[in-house]
Amino acid sequence: MLRTHTCGELNMAHAGLEVTLSGWLQRSRDMGGLTFIDLRDRYGITQLVFNLEVNSQLCMEARKLGREFVISATGKVAERSNKNPKLPTGDIEILVGSITILNVSKTPPFTIEDNTDGGEELRMKYRYLDLRRTVNRKNLELRHRMAIETRNYLNNQRFLEIETPYMIKSTPEGARDFVVPSRMNPGQFYALPQSPQTFKQLLMVAGFDRYFQIVRCFRDEDLRADRQPEFTQIDCEMAFVTQEDILDTFEGLAKHLFKSVLNINMGDFPRISYDEAMTRYGSDKPDIRFGMTFTELNDLMKGKNFKVFDDAELVVGINAAGCSEYSRKQLDELTEFVKKPQVGASGLVYIKYGLDGVAKSSVDKFYSPEELMTILGKFNASPGDLILILAGKEEKTQIALGTLRLEMGKRMKLVQPGDFKPLWVVDFPLLEWDDETRRFYAKHHPFTSPKPEDIALLDTDARSVRANAYDLVINGTEIGGGSIRIHNKDLQKKMFSVLGFTDEEAVDQFGFLMNAFEYGAPPHGGIAFGFDRWATIFGGGDSIRDYIAFPKNNSGRDVMIDSPSTIKEEQLKELQIRLVK
Ligand code: AMO
Repeated sequence: MLRTHTCGELNMAHAGLEVTLSGWLQRSRDMGGLTFIDLRDRYGITQLVFNLEVNSQLCMEARKLGREFVISATGKVAERSNKNPKLPTGDIEILVGSITILNVSKTPPFTIEDNTDGGEELRMKYRYLDLRRTVNRKNLELRHRMAIETRNYLNNQRFLEIETPYMIKSTPEGARDFVVPSRMNPGQFYALPQSPQTFKQLLMVAGFDRYFQIVRCFRDEDLRADRQPEFTQIDCEMAFVTQEDILDTFEGLAKHLFKSVLNINMGDFPRISYDEAMTRYGSDKPDIRFGMTFTELNDLMKGKNFKVFDDAELVVGINAAGCSEYSRKQLDELTEFVKKPQVGASGLVYIKYGLDGVAKSSVDKFYSPEELMTILGKFNASPGDLILILAGKEEKTQIALGTLRLEMGKRMKLVQPGDFKPLWVVDFPLLEWDDETRRFYAKHHPFTSPKPEDIALLDTDARSVRANAYDLVINGTEIGGGSIRIHNKDLQKKMFSVLGFTDEEAVDQFGFLMNAFEYGAPPHGGIAFGFDRWATIFGGGDSIRDYIAFPKNNSGRDVMIDSPSTIKEEQLKELQIRLVK
């Protein structure tokens, strides 16, 4: 071994001991007769000292070492006169007797420190240097602990970890597939899995009963802070279970991770229906770290000759408690915010409940002071509160107010770092209507079972059919989603037909699954968690990229290896692919 200890473990208990440490030179300082070097490895930083009077040749050698040189130093552990309480090794230093240069380094393009001077693009290009920074190392350590604890928990629950193929035929999860040309089958392509959905269902038919996999999934979709083209799922499936069993088992997993990784004892997770989530929070992934739930105002605000409200399907508002003193400028800002195309509201109405007890609104001419007081009463408002109201088509208005609620939560600083509020959202609609293509799409995926009591509605009122589907949401992020599956061939066939598949298309794409269902498919269901997202939430980060060792940038590029890239003409020829210019 080129070291006796790591750079993170020495303290006063080791004083007087002769040790050898190896690592990277983080920083060096010359202070007259003394030269100090901070030596860094994965475990921490230890201060090395070279004394010009004791060994001038060694000291001169040390002064020539550059940043990120890899060195090995041997010396005695000594108490520091100038202790650094911020470092676990801050009580001691090493009085170095000899050094070996294990490797030299070019000056790195940015400083390898928490507050680095390197921009995102540069750090991604030199990701191996970026990963030397403590923040990134800690993120990957957190991710590792979560993976280990996930395996521990599921193993204890008799789940088997089974690998499924990466070169498959497309599974429709709603995104585009990444495809891989097959040289041996010219003109044909594999698809990379958007998830192992159909395979895990086949494992249930095969009798494996409890499966999991920490698995890479691939989706060709627009990227955001919480999306990567390749990302990792904790993918799970169980046979002979009800929805209740699945929620219990995986609430257990979540509680285990909270306890074992963050040392937080979590109580039972609340459950709310999709309808309630939309009606109260305007989101199917509500952030319940703060209240500010919706109050419907149709009965109080429609029918008073205010055309915008009279024409609206829904008039609905929130109470921004204590914000009645918002200035004209602040209210204009909020109006601009809701009118942004991403939010899509046509305008914003407010009622200020002044500290003097007087109500003033932006639509005073349509509502008498008494009517305004009645509205304030419905919000349980107090003097000093500000009511913000949107109106329009039901779902669109709910979503817009949901976005405004989150914005107000941010402005009013209602969420505290380190606060975790998980919940289950259940009873999702089975289908989603798309106006453009004029057809239904599966809200979750085509294998999700309708609620048995709603099956009859598939023929008469498909929009209102609810699914046995559920999402785990933490702090407003969808961490996981799953469902009880259809295990009956005829119902699966029916589902494909509601989704607009012809019989031939259904057989062509999913014949293997429907065939399998003819050989004794057990009732089954499952869930998949976005592992990168979960690690990001646990770590308190903003972007899943910070919790992935080698992520892609917003254009789906890996700027370090410069991918995607063109391939050679011969390769294209071999694959029988001609590029259309
Ligand atoms: P779903 O499509 O909801 O379900 O995906 C499960 C979870 O995976 C995460 N996720 C992503 N994370 C990062 N980048 C992405 N591009 C991305 N897309 C999804 C989310 C999401 O909740 N087969 C079903 C699961 C099942 O029914 O068992 C599925 O994949 O956190």
